[in-house]
Amino acid sequence: MSSVKFFMIFVFLLSLSSSLFTFTIEAKPNYLNNVCSNNTFTRNSAYQSNLNLVLSSLASNANGSDGFFNATAGQNPNRVYGLFQCRSDLNTTTCQDCVVYASTEVTQRCPTQKGNIIWYDECLLHY
Ligand SMILES: *[C@@H]1O[C@H](CO)[C@@H](O)[C@H](O)[C@H]1NC(C)=O
Ligand SMILES: *[C@@H]1O[C@H](CO)[C@@H](O)[C@H](O)[C@H]1NC(C)=O
Ligand SMILES: *[C@@H]1O[C@H](CO)[C@@H](O)[C@H](O)[C@H]1NC(C)=O
Ligand SMILES: *[C@@H]1O[C@H](CO)[C@@H](O)[C@H](O)[C@H]1NC(C)=O
Repeated sequence: MSSVKFFMIFVFLLSLSSSLFTFTIEAKPNYLNNVCSNNTFTRNSAYQSNLNLVLSSLASNANGSDGFFNATAGQNPNRVYGLFQCRSDLNTTTCQDCVVYASTEVTQRCPTQKGNIIWYDECLLHY
């Protein structure tokens, strides 16, 4: 009896995790390419905190935009300028999904480089 219960719970968790998995796949944009610049910055520097501000500003402004948004943070020499652009036929939900995803992935692909660009089918992000 208890093994039947256990089995039911297992099946329930399995279906829950597969639906979460499907959601992740749908939200994931189609990666095309990226280029990291050869200039690097130091981790935990002023540059990095400005970059974090710019990336979160891009991600949080993607839903109200017309598919384009730019942001800056800080003062020279640690000033960071960033922008994103979405494909014009996409709605703001899809646009934001892509920008949110890109803003995380770009820092994984180019962890300490200044000046990066990443392209997806749906959007590009540049700083
Ligand atoms: C970075 O350096 C490599 C080799 O030094 C060079 O081939 C490449 O073109 C440089 N990239 C940029 C974006 O300047
Ligand atoms: C954008 O997202 C914010 C926070 O998630 C929300 O409050 C706002 O209504 C959204 N704007 C649009 C145009 O969807
Ligand atoms: C964004 O771009 C526009 C037009 O290119 C420019 O006028 C504006 O100053 C930029 N905004 C920021 C925050 O850099
Ligand atoms: C936006 O487009 C996606 C993909 O075509 C679609 O699944 C989604 O329902 C659309 N969302 C809105 C709010 O129109």
